[in-house]
Amino acid sequence: MTILVTGSAGFIGSNFVLDWLANHDEKVIGLDKLTYAGNLQNLADLEGDERHLFVHGDIGDLATVSALLERHQPRAVLNFAAESHVDRSIHGPEDFIQTNVVGTFHLLQAVREYWAGLDSERRSAFRFLHVSTDEVYGSLEPDAAAFTEQHRYEPNSPYSASKAASDHLVRAYHHTYGLPVLTTNCSNNYGPYHFPEKLIPLVIHNALTGKPLPIYGDGQQIRDWLYVKDHCSAIRRVLDAGKVGETYNVGGWNEKANLDVVQTLCDILDQESPRSDGRSYRDQITFVKDRPGHDRRYAIDASRLERELGWKPAETFESGIAKTVRWYLDNQAWVDNITSGAYREWLDKQYK
Ligand code: NAD
Ligand code: DAU
Repeated sequence: MTILVTGSAGFIGSNFVLDWLANHDEKVIGLDKLTYAGNLQNLADLEGDERHLFVHGDIGDLATVSALLERHQPRAVLNFAAESHVDRSIHGPEDFIQTNVVGTFHLLQAVREYWAGLDSERRSAFRFLHVSTDEVYGSLEPDAAAFTEQHRYEPNSPYSASKAASDHLVRAYHHTYGLPVLTTNCSNNYGPYHFPEKLIPLVIHNALTGKPLPIYGDGQQIRDWLYVKDHCSAIRRVLDAGKVGETYNVGGWNEKANLDVVQTLCDILDQESPRSDGRSYRDQITFVKDRPGHDRRYAIDASRLERELGWKPAETFESGIAKTVRWYLDNQAWVDNITSGAYREWLDKQYK
């Protein structure tokens, strides 16, 4: 048996593949375009592992995807591939439409054709699992209940609009063609291999290199944080037991204001890797111009996944964030390798 994982060299995709092979002997075919966010070093521990095959390619390339499906006959396709950074979607939405909308459409076309050609037993066992985000639901008022699966889609950024469009296509391929799909909508992840354009790894990297820690606006925007390995375990659970055609919210009930998250990171770093001048990393916190259209609050109600599929996160925010800081301190070489010329160009564009 085999599964096909798209976006397997990115943050969550690579964590998923590593965790999958730590938990199963089932073969994984990874497909990734290796954009700036894709990094084969994330999968370096799998070198020589015959259960893993990496293929460099685009989910929007129908011929490549169809050939892969025919050749490897996976029992499931898990779609992590996406352009994922909100700020980049504000500077340049085109890539988001191409990959998240058009790419997902082509992937669905290839998968549908492959699935239709399977014998009836394999056709009914097949799953297409689409990895989506809580951002499709828009922004919550301070006292509003957390997003359930019934919450109306109200995406506010080009990124979240493109993810919402892909979710709708996935839904339509189930409703119209009967493709056995599952969709997960997860809150903010953090953990190993997180690209340092996103808040948590950016702050750790900037703190350690003596740079400002940029807080957008007043820093009181709220995100609901989940350790990446808990997201991976939720996806495995949904793939195993999720009801076809349904969506599952994934989250850890960890709402935090951005400023609190950054202060927590500073406090851990003060303990684990103190500044040479004895001062706190909090001194580096700098308030900068807000993100246009910045969603004020996300919060996920994950009770369906907990109640129906018995999933629970293993990490609290405190345990997950401590592990994450430790991982970045122990893996400076990984960070140094990706903070290359292209990364510096992005920082200049975004923060200057
Ligand atoms: P990421 O940007 O770290 O990784 C995305 C990966 O997809 C990269 O390896 C990239 O090379 C690859 N990719 C991009 N375009 C491609 C294409 N056309 N064909 C094949 N591969 C392509 O993103 P991530 O944070 O790992 O997110 C993975 C998925 O999870 C995304 O769909 C994202 O929307 C979703 N998600 C992310 C979070 C989060 O907090 N990071 C939370 C919820 C959902
Ligand atoms: O909610 C799930 C989403 O979480 C995923 O779908 C996205 O792919 C993922 O990137 C993430 O989106 P966010 O926009 O919430 O993540 P980001 O790390 O970019 O920002 C987190 C919060 O921190 C957000 O309120 C913006 C703020 N921020 C971010 C950066 C990069 C800052 O204040 N300063 C910064 O420099």
